[in-house]
Amino acid sequence: MIRIENLTHKYKSRKEEAIKDINLHIKRGESVVLIGSSGSGKSTLLRCINRLVEPDSGKIYVDGRDIANCPITEAQKIRSNIGMIFQHFNLLERETVFKNVLNGRLSHVSTLKTIFGRFSKEDYEIVRDSLKRVGLEEYKNERVANLSGGQKQRVAIARTLSQKPKIILADEPVSALDPKLMKEVMDLLKNICDEKGITLVSSLHFLDFAKRYSTRMIGIRDGRIVFDDKPEELNEKNIVDIYGKTKDWYMYGKLGF
Ligand SMILES: Nc1ncnc2c1ncn2[C@@H]1O[C@H](COP(=O)(O)OP(=O)(O)OP(=O)(O)O)[C@@H](O)[C@H]1O
Ligand SMILES: [Mg+2]
Repeated sequence: MIRIENLTHKYKSRKEEAIKDINLHIKRGESVVLIGSSGSGKSTLLRCINRLVEPDSGKIYVDGRDIANCPITEAQKIRSNIGMIFQHFNLLERETVFKNVLNGRLSHVSTLKTIFGRFSKEDYEIVRDSLKRVGLEEYKNERVANLSGGQKQRVAIARTLSQKPKIILADEPVSALDPKLMKEVMDLLKNICDEKGITLVSSLHFLDFAKRYSTRMIGIRDGRIVFDDKPEELNEKNIVDIYGKTKDWYMYGKLGF
């Protein structure tokens, strides 16, 4: 589903590369969780996959097409298959839940139709189904600003779902939520991806959380992959490889699941 070859990116204002020579092959239906200290390069990697960040070098094949090295119009087409979930939801707070979820259809509707607000009957049905799947039908006319954090992330999931993606990239999708909601939202996201065969690539901070929701864990340190294996293979030595000897990783340890 995603094949990354020799991917490197350096932000102009920085001396060091944020990600260095990343090679990665992710199969359809996998649930990959990225772990690593703050600043290790998780967000940069996720953002390169849908070209929100323009990589300096390397190739990123999404379903066989190289999104990193194609005209931007082609990249937009490839991107229509990739949903993105952010830590701080990225919703239009003053708009209704329904409108936000309808925005997920934008990448499938021509610009002209969008200008005239011409979504099809099918678009509206998809939005209704997506809202139903995340349990927010009753809230469809509510402004997003009036919702709780957990509800907002469910709106974001519904918006992504209405996009009918093959891949979902989730950058710390539950970091802004309390522990009970973290579990609820991650359960929802993982179940939806399993149900629909969507490939999920997320970044999560808590280790037992990352284990629970992954079929494969990838540890990043200073922009390089230093661990890539099944979650049950993660041991203390690997954890030190990923986080260093500082023992800081203890704070990423138990969350009590
Ligand atoms: N827009 C930017 N401009 C300049 N440097 C950036 C930018 N975004 C990230 N960086 C730098 O790139 C490196 C990797 O950052 P990145 O955000 O990818 O890490 P991360 O693993 O997602 O961290 P966190 O866990 O805190 O979210 C860091 O050194 C960071 O300071
Ligand atoms: Mg990040």
